Amino acid sequence: MKQSLLKNKERNKSRLKNGEYLKKQTNFLSERSRFAYAPLHEYDALARSIEKKGKKVIWLNRGDLAIYFKTPKYFIDAYVKSLKSGKTFYAQPTGINELREAISNRYKRLYGVRFGPEKAIVTQGVSEALNFMNAAMINYGDAALMFKPYYSSYMPFLRFYGGTVYVHDYDESRNWDLDRDKIESMFRKNRGMARKVKYMLITNPNNPTGSVLDRKTLEDVVEFAKDHGIFLISDEIYDEIVYNGAKFTSIAQLAKGIPHMILNGASKVFDAPGIRIGYMVLPEEDKLSNELRKKFTDFCDMRLSANTPAQYAFADAINNRKAHEKALRKMVASIENRVHFATKLLNENEYVHAIEPRGAFYIFPKIDIKQLNLRSSGAFVEKLLKEKGVYLTSGKGFGSEGHARLVSAATKEILADAINKINEFCKAHAR
Ligand SMILES: Cc1ncc(COP(=O)(O)O)c(C=O)c1O
Repeated sequence: MKQSLLKNKERNKSRLKNGEYLKKQTNFLSERSRFAYAPLHEYDALARSIEKKGKKVIWLNRGDLAIYFKTPKYFIDAYVKSLKSGKTFYAQPTGINELREAISNRYKRLYGVRFGPEKAIVTQGVSEALNFMNAAMINYGDAALMFKPYYSSYMPFLRFYGGTVYVHDYDESRNWDLDRDKIESMFRKNRGMARKVKYMLITNPNNPTGSVLDRKTLEDVVEFAKDHGIFLISDEIYDEIVYNGAKFTSIAQLAKGIPHMILNGASKVFDAPGIRIGYMVLPEEDKLSNELRKKFTDFCDMRLSANTPAQYAFADAINNRKAHEKALRKMVASIENRVHFATKLLNENEYVHAIEPRGAFYIFPKIDIKQLNLRSSGAFVEKLLKEKGVYLTSGKGFGSEGHARLVSAATKEILADAINKINEFCKAHAR
């Protein structure tokens, strides 16, 4: 009895100590958590505080198609059907067979590329795939080769795992094209680079520029990856949103026999970003691809399952070709129309220069920051939001200072309202 009293006393004492310790902790958050950062949301709090004061904000910062184009009925019906038929269990961690088969058939149909369903792994959006690929490949000090402007989430995920980056520019003066000789020369100048690079990542069609790389450039990219023995990743989440005469080629068509991975999903082409389904395809059987697929399987197992009813719905949506093509054609025609209208209106502003996109639904104009008497594109975005209630994303988060991104999927009325305000803002600030 006496002994247990003593024990209790000791226990209470140590509890107190722990309590004190928790209060005093200064390094509670991990070092790597510093890299959690999302440029798309940088000024969300400011935008909300403006709205709270009763002023209007035009949100053109986040690429959410479903705000402007209702997710098609055939997809919603498929989702409701999967819910009603009880598809609410944990699915097979790497994805339901029906969806993996639908993905495999989609690539055969659209691109003439053949791979078995087991080569496709289902994720909770491409965002989860970005997390998985860096978690699987990046040790502290490893590097990735990217091209700027790049999609804003690539960098935080890479940095989160201790990676660094080699960046090469898309050439704005040549419609954001890539020049293989220049990439080669960057590699020649830094011999250590090739040893550090774990993967190279391209985005086609591109976010934020809306450019679509032609087949010849993509062949160069594939050759480069092959020559230098670098794992090639192609984010093709906008593959069917091309217009303005552009023709899309998948890396999967060109990289046969070379270790590579394709990223894609439901968020853009199928106009269903909120269902959070994406996928990775690793069609090859080489050592790197096999190791990666195995590791991705482990990661999928750890998080149990992606959204099950959404997977059934997405499988139906991919297989429902007629309904998909009809909805897609209509949406892409509207996007082309809106993007054309917005680019033209923006270019009436002498302080802004926009290249007309041929894919996705963004415009990424160069802003004459100096002439506007501003420090940076961040300052441009912040001031524009404060003074005119137009919310764009600063180029910095895409690796390209001096630019800003505008989501141009909004209706022409919204775009006209926003761009007229941008143009007024520039006039008012010009030196
Ligand atoms: C190029 C690119 N990759 C990935 C994503 C993220 O996609 P998901 O909604 O599938 O996570 C986006 C979203 O805008 C994107 O533009």
